[in-house]
Amino acid sequence: MKPIKVGLLGIGTVGSGTFNVLKRNQLEITRRAGRSIEIAMVADLNVERARELTNGECEVVNDANLVVSNPDIDIVIELIGGYGIAKDLVMKAIANGKHVVTANKALLATHGNEIFKAAEEKGVMVAFEAAVAGGIPIIKALREGLTANRIQWIAGIINGTTNFILSEMRDKGLDFSAVLKQAQELGYAEADPTFDIEGVDAAHKATIMASIAYGIPMQFDKAHVEGITKLQASDIRYAEELGYRIKLLGISKRTEAGIELRVHPTLIPEKRLIANVEGAMNAVLVHGDAVGATLYYGKGAGSEPTASAVIADLVDITRLATADPEHRVPYLAFQSNSLSDLPVLPMAEIVTSYYLRMHVADKPGVLADVTRILADLTISIDAMLQKEPAEGETQTDIIILTHQTKEKNIVAAIEKIEKLDSVFGAVTKLRLEELS
Ligand code: NDP
Ligand code: HSE
Repeated sequence: MKPIKVGLLGIGTVGSGTFNVLKRNQLEITRRAGRSIEIAMVADLNVERARELTNGECEVVNDANLVVSNPDIDIVIELIGGYGIAKDLVMKAIANGKHVVTANKALLATHGNEIFKAAEEKGVMVAFEAAVAGGIPIIKALREGLTANRIQWIAGIINGTTNFILSEMRDKGLDFSAVLKQAQELGYAEADPTFDIEGVDAAHKATIMASIAYGIPMQFDKAHVEGITKLQASDIRYAEELGYRIKLLGISKRTEAGIELRVHPTLIPEKRLIANVEGAMNAVLVHGDAVGATLYYGKGAGSEPTASAVIADLVDITRLATADPEHRVPYLAFQSNSLSDLPVLPMAEIVTSYYLRMHVADKPGVLADVTRILADLTISIDAMLQKEPAEGETQTDIIILTHQTKEKNIVAAIEKIEKLDSVFGAVTKLRLEELS
């Protein structure tokens, strides 16, 4: 059988990994795919570097339009990133009848509905295993392996850069910006690293997983997004004293009222496996009604780990390229005419537990005032830590862990607590998940 021809758009970190792994494991991959997969054309702005990387083994151009309009190309791999030129190229490739593989979670979370519709109309496949958790086959697991289940919740460490930063800060006491620079040098960070540290990248990935898990359209605009930039070293320390680790989690949950979709720093009991995922590693915990909890762990970023997922998609498409489109796995796991209109809930309606830190006067009655406010709002306390004031100080920190309550209750309580004369400054609020 003649090789399936691939056009690669962007030969940077992931593109070069894809080129190298495909070449290195060519024989094994052909034996699995049933047909050889050949990168016939590469487009990159830096043509010279692309020629060096591809060593004269394929045509190199600087205009990606030449790839998506080339009638000899069967599959286009988009590894440029962003939602500008990348979106145009993906839409053109689809319009020209080409299958698409992309690692671009930003593009899918924001324009996925439009892209999948166009692909369905054209009868081509759009595959995106690398878009969530890099080398971990989580899309395949959610879409196929867990297909018998009603998925109840997903919680994932799905941004390698922020997990790397949190781990290095905690273990080595390193400074935030130094660790971020290291993550950029290692190729983990996005072109715009604010996407990583402000939680946007994790929210893109959580959005994609939620669509597949609950059969809802992509709704990135409804996700709650909070990064790690406001996290204080003291909160990491206090959490540890109470038996918790703080991780940036992407969480989605099915409730009777709708879907919770949120990314924020989260306290997790340190005894949970996922609390011990360190460095740039990713892990996704999925709870299905039949299977219970399943955990997926591995490298969530980097050149070859991500290439591993890109090539898995290439093999899938190669195997299915001649199959009837109706026999393919639907993009979002559910048939496109069976998507649900279950709403994504506003943050005020989500239910979780909380960590509250407040700086207070060290005098009788303060704690009673705070606990009265919590009790009036039916917020029950799970644990509490009061620090000894430092030598000669008259103020101290109180840390309270609550049982589950609605976010709007905690917001109302904080508003009242901050008005107490004996409480100084803002109350720090972090969310806590037992993940049991
Ligand atoms: P890089 O920046 O390393 O690579 C992008 C490449 O695309 C660069 O070589 C760039 O060239 C080239 N490029 C930019 N604009 C164009 C254009 N108009 N036409 C042709 N080529 C162009 O990014 P990554 O490889 O890190 O990421 C690629 C995608 O994969 C992104 O969507 C990212 O979010 C996603 N991803 C990345 C992971 C990672 O670990 N890095 C993991 C999972 C997903 P130049 O350098 O000259 O600008
Ligand atoms: N910037 C992303 C991360 C790359 O750090 O996880 C993988 O998607």
